[in-house]
Amino acid sequence: MKALFKSGPQPGFELVDRPEPVPGDRDVKIRVMTTGICGTDLHIQAWDPWAQANVPTPLVPGHEFYGEVVEAGPLVQDIKVGDRVSGEGHIVCGTCRNCRAGRRQMCIRTVSVGVQRDGAFAEYVVIPDTNAWVHHDESITPELGAIFDPFGNAVHTALSFPLVGEDVLITGAGPIGLMAVAVARHAGARKIAITDVSASRLELAKRMGADMAVDVSRMHLDEAQAQLHLAEGFDIGLEMSGRASALREMIDNMTHGGRIALLGLPAEEIAVDWGKVVTHMLTLKGIYGREMFETWYAMSAMLQSNPQLHEAVSGVITDVLPASGWAAGFEIAREGSGGKVVLDWTRI
Ligand SMILES: NC(=O)c1ccc[n+]([C@@H]2O[C@H](COP(=O)([O-])OP(=O)(O)OC[C@H]3O[C@@H](n4cnc5c(N)ncnc54)[C@H](O)[C@@H]3O)[C@@H](O)[C@H]2O)c1
Ligand SMILES: [Zn+2]
Ligand SMILES: [Zn+2]
Repeated sequence: MKALFKSGPQPGFELVDRPEPVPGDRDVKIRVMTTGICGTDLHIQAWDPWAQANVPTPLVPGHEFYGEVVEAGPLVQDIKVGDRVSGEGHIVCGTCRNCRAGRRQMCIRTVSVGVQRDGAFAEYVVIPDTNAWVHHDESITPELGAIFDPFGNAVHTALSFPLVGEDVLITGAGPIGLMAVAVARHAGARKIAITDVSASRLELAKRMGADMAVDVSRMHLDEAQAQLHLAEGFDIGLEMSGRASALREMIDNMTHGGRIALLGLPAEEIAVDWGKVVTHMLTLKGIYGREMFETWYAMSAMLQSNPQLHEAVSGVITDVLPASGWAAGFEIAREGSGGKVVLDWTRI
């Protein structure tokens, strides 16, 4: 099969022929149709210090994908050949305390598809049957199916705290922040403000339904608050940039008792005004991955019940390229001015 491959500990990928993966007794083999390009893939491609410390080679990267089941191991239940699925990329141990309690997203031994084992920038990928999410809704296109992983990040974060009637601040209008706008709207938020420093992404954010898209290189958030007629600050914060200044500005602009869910992954330690966190009685909650599998259930259910949400989330996919054009796709993703970039593995 054709696959993007990192042969050793150095920058770059190559499109090469690799042996097809063989499913174990409880695995499914999936013919990959679409794979999303994520920031993690850009780190692995660039072979930056994070990748050097966390990624073993050789590796086929890719963890955001959709495809058709072509083979199922003898012990696989409830999934059959021909099913269309998205992949949950976090493979959990099943036996640690959290796994046994049903809190799989908190497994202490999580292994990531396309990061620590071979992934889905390839014509075929193998995952445990429990990691495949079967789509029963024909409106889920292969492109939309490929972004269930990052959509799940947005849903997990946005639904961490009740949003009905709340004023919400989202920092970072990358693909995940953009989807979070649509989810917050669905979940009943009153005012939604989103920040970024990219004019094109802020434009996309307005189309997602944000009440205000703030370029923080030009406007302070207290001015945004005034324009939104907020008297006491934001109730809920969703940090989706991983930037120190964004987190500090968020803490500065929350109401007392405000709640913040943190998804963005900072590249280094961040100093914050902990005195303000304490005296303003803020709650900070880290978010990793998707809840297995309540987030997946919520994603499918919300897309099915809300056509506007379906349209908005689909609109976050701004570029679909044949897998043979992977290098151009990675360049577009690295530019960081559009939405999600998806590779089509049926065109290789
Ligand atoms: N916790 C998890 O499980 C998980 C999973 C996926 C991604 N992430 C992280 O979530 C974040 C969002 O992911 P994404 O794919 O949308 O990333 P992205 O890098 O495309 O988006 C981040 C956005 O933040 C913007 N930004 C830069 N400086 C800013 C500032 N000062 N204020 C506001 N915005 C600023 C950037 O212009 C960019 O548009 C990233 O940090 C990513 O690493 C975490
Ligand atoms: Zn990802
Ligand atoms: Zn576990």
